[in-house]
Amino acid sequence: MVTPIIAPFPATRLRRLRRTANLRAMVSEVNLTPANLIWPIFVTEVAGAEGEIASMPGVERLTLDGARRAAERAARLGIPAICIFPHSDQALKTEGCERAWDPDNIGNRAIRAVKDAVPELAVMTDIALDPYNANGHDGIVLDGEILNDETIEALVRMALLQAEAGADILGPSDMMDGRIGALRGALEAAGHKHVAILSYAAKFASAFYGPFRDAVGASGRLVGDKNTYQVNPANRGEALRCVARDLAEGADMVMVKPGMPYLDICKAVKDQFGAPTFAYQVSGEYAMLEGAIRNGWLSRDAMLESLLAFRRAGCDGVLSYFAPDAAEMLA
Ligand code: PBG
Repeated sequence: MVTPIIAPFPATRLRRLRRTANLRAMVSEVNLTPANLIWPIFVTEVAGAEGEIASMPGVERLTLDGARRAAERAARLGIPAICIFPHSDQALKTEGCERAWDPDNIGNRAIRAVKDAVPELAVMTDIALDPYNANGHDGIVLDGEILNDETIEALVRMALLQAEAGADILGPSDMMDGRIGALRGALEAAGHKHVAILSYAAKFASAFYGPFRDAVGASGRLVGDKNTYQVNPANRGEALRCVARDLAEGADMVMVKPGMPYLDICKAVKDQFGAPTFAYQVSGEYAMLEGAIRNGWLSRDAMLESLLAFRRAGCDGVLSYFAPDAAEMLA
């Protein structure tokens, strides 16, 4: 940390460098470009479920064709990666979550569709059982308990099929203990040594995920809450230990989630570990901002300002539903 030397007024007038746009640009400390964005999309296999998500105005569940078009749009806008979230048929969800490791589940079909349309676009996935779980949890549930080790076995099977389908980056979002090491080991053993892991390392038990659960059709399903596996929003130290642990197990990149209410965690993670660090500006954050913008209560610049804040806090990039809009505004 440098000690700022400030001459007394009037020798120092900080407004001198704020006077024109070019002077301001010269001394801008961080920047936001489309390369800093990862775009999460929802892909559905259910006829009639495509279209706008009520609690996320402007965000749609896409068909496989829609996913292909989104990939082309991302590439055009300079967005380097898309993250796929499946919306699967409710009737096919089971307690054993077997569809999570079906090579033809909607998630895997979407990976192939996007890679086929735009091979150079990085495809990220979500690793957790919730899209295929009858009770909406990220892990296997037995007598009300979310089983850690049994869930990891299922996640490994799920991950290998995603890698097989062509995913570049796997995003374990389940918060089981030991999953990063198990996934890395299995990927290496199966010859997927280039598939990267972006761990949802500091994932908090947050009320800001509500609209997402509507988007993937998990809202009505979830029995209880996720407090036995996601981190208590009060716990900074525990979040940092999660990050340290995931890096030690082989995570290539780490994520803090949600984003804006947790900027202190983003800053601490980047400062302490220096690893590639991402924030997830989650569905509830999107809903708040987009709702206010649509009501005319905020200008759309508030959205870019929210994304820049992540850069200032030390994040290399942000997963945001605003990604295509932001990239268009930045162009
Ligand atoms: C679940 C998952 C969630 C999100 C990403 N992966 C929700 C949850 O943990 O219940 C939330 C993303 C968002 O709110 O935008 N595996």
